[in-house]
Amino acid sequence: MNNIIENTVQLVKEKLEGAEAGHDWFHIERVWKLSKKIAKTEDCNLEVVELSALLHDIADPKFHDGDESLALKISREFLESQKVNEEIIEQVLFIIQNISFKNRGEAPKDLPIELKIVQDADRIDAIGAIGIGRTFNFGGFKNNLMYHPDLKPQLNMSKEEYKKSNGTTINHFYEKLLLLKDLMNTKEGKKIAEKRHQFMLNFLDQFFAEWNVD
Ligand code: ADP
Ligand code: NI
Repeated sequence: MNNIIENTVQLVKEKLEGAEAGHDWFHIERVWKLSKKIAKTEDCNLEVVELSALLHDIADPKFHDGDESLALKISREFLESQKVNEEIIEQVLFIIQNISFKNRGEAPKDLPIELKIVQDADRIDAIGAIGIGRTFNFGGFKNNLMYHPDLKPQLNMSKEEYKKSNGTTINHFYEKLLLLKDLMNTKEGKKIAEKRHQFMLNFLDQFFAEWNVD
């Protein structure tokens, strides 16, 4: 591992100390590994991919009073201190700013391959068994209900509505998790997502079968 990557790992571990279990260092580590796996199948700048994967949740607005600029500030200061060149810094900051699911309506059209790779990796970690675990953990963290038969999923929420949503954890599957498979950017990402998507469908079948005891 080169020095800059190693120092970035240290920074992220420090900053995410005590984070909610779905957005902690281990989420970052999984996204980093998945990004490297997908990067092998694409023509891309690996340094940009790795730095973006490591820094993408360094200060998630939902845990910082909605502040959308903090992550960019921390990342820029850190990368400058590591003497990373300006062109790379700008590419990494662009990815951090545009990777999020809730910003998908606002993102520019022609996205760089490095963003597509890290976005696929982040989305893959949101689905499958890990995705289910993270989602129930986050729902518990917010004290949301697991499920309520009268509360229907809300599709087409605006960014503001999505952020404020206190819906149930099961609704989050329909509002986000089950949509991710068709939003994958890369061939490798799609392949991994298919399997995890199917696992969530099986989980939901079982969940409802157990909920609706005759
Ligand atoms: P992004 O980080 O791409 O903007 P989100 O912040 O929407 O994505 O969500 C990241 C993860 O946090 C989700 O994949 C899910 O596990 C969890 N999460 C976010 N919102 C909810 C919610 N309303 N209920 C349950 N889990 C949620
Ligand atoms: Ni993430």
